[in-house]
Amino acid sequence: MLLLIYATLLGIFLKTGYALQIQCYQCEEVKNNECSTPEFIVNCTVNVQDMCQKEVLVKKDGIFYRKSCASSGACLISSSGYQQFCTGRINSVCISCCNTPLCNGPRKKNRPVPSAATSSFSSLLFLLVSLTLVSLSLT
Ligand SMILES: *[C@@H]1O[C@H](CO)[C@@H](O)[C@H](O)[C@H]1NC(C)=O
Repeated sequence: MLLLIYATLLGIFLKTGYALQIQCYQCEEVKNNECSTPEFIVNCTVNVQDMCQKEVLVKKDGIFYRKSCASSGACLISSSGYQQFCTGRINSVCISCCNTPLCNGPRKKNRPVPSAATSSFSSLLFLLVSLTLVSLSLT
């Protein structure tokens, strides 16, 4: 019986919660502007682009920003590949990846953007723990 409840809940969760889509800022080499305004927001490809990527290029004539959606694999590979060029000096390139909506926005604060996926996951977890406790106390 308990198993049935678990299975049903898990099924509901997978159906509603698994289509992972985030939004990121997207722009190509914008000079001296972090392109973090609403007109740069795009929807990433569902279940494929699960991260936001941010490139900061320091050039003689300014700082250039390049932002996009990315798959976590591609983003992590390029960010680690460019690690050695991330010096902060002229001609340096830094690539960073993050996986919350619009996380490639302005640097100021790391605004904790509550993700619908994680909050529904934690409430599901809470439900499962409660069910387990109830069933234990009944036996
Ligand atoms: C992103 O998707 C939402 C809902 O799916 C839609 O309302 C919005 O217009 C889309 N934004 C862009 C920039 O495509």
